[in-house]
Amino acid sequence: MNRMTPEIVRRAKGQGVTAVTAYDYPTARLLEEAGVEVLLVGDSLGMVVLGLPDTTGVVLEDILHHVRAVHRGVSRSLVVADLPINTYNSPREATLNAQKLADAGAHAVKLEGGQSKSEQIRAITKSGIAVMGHIGMLPQHIREEGGYHLKGKTDAEKQFLLDEAKAVEEAGAFAVVLELVRSGVAGEITRAISIPTIGIGSGSECDGQILVFHDLVGYSPWFIPKHVQPQAKVGEEIIRAAKAFISGVKKPEAK
Ligand code: KIV
Repeated sequence: MNRMTPEIVRRAKGQGVTAVTAYDYPTARLLEEAGVEVLLVGDSLGMVVLGLPDTTGVVLEDILHHVRAVHRGVSRSLVVADLPINTYNSPREATLNAQKLADAGAHAVKLEGGQSKSEQIRAITKSGIAVMGHIGMLPQHIREEGGYHLKGKTDAEKQFLLDEAKAVEEAGAFAVVLELVRSGVAGEITRAISIPTIGIGSGSECDGQILVFHDLVGYSPWFIPKHVQPQAKVGEEIIRAAKAFISGVKKPEAK
């Protein structure tokens, strides 16, 4: 894999862009070695690493800490960092915080929202930092939404999502995540815009796919989202290894 840039991802429309979340050095190194093109230091780290109920408790310092670790592990993959909730309420705040993430080693940032966030996307892009959009189900709004619900089920929702995607594209984003968007609608959005769509739980008609690392490898076996087919059983391996260690240490009388 050549060194990835936002521009290379933008031009990879229709080519199956691969993206996985990463929160630490060894995972980043291994995912890059496997050839994953985009590593997202996502605010999903709140749930899968920090044990929080959702992403709304994640703060900028958390993401900065993990971006530094991921950055040390890569030389070719593109590192994208999430702007957590309440770090991009205005274009100025968005630009200042995007710069902090870039200084920590992110090659691009991601933020949630379309039309309501186009000024933020435009301002960050203008400051020289590439932006990945994120529309559909927005995890930072989980509390208002009352759960993870599929988007694009009505004509009005479909039109809204198309407008959101176009707003993200026009504001200058190089790619856009479609989360939990009905498959046919994700396909329509993909055909309607010129930047790559990267789907999660949005079917196969997107230009690329993104997965949370822990879901991909079976490292959060107590919660497997519907759209995920884990490719490994890392959780079971950890328990097996820990049990082997325990039985090697315990004295016969303690067993
Ligand atoms: O934080 C995250 O992991 C994400 C993905 C679900 C796209 O935003």
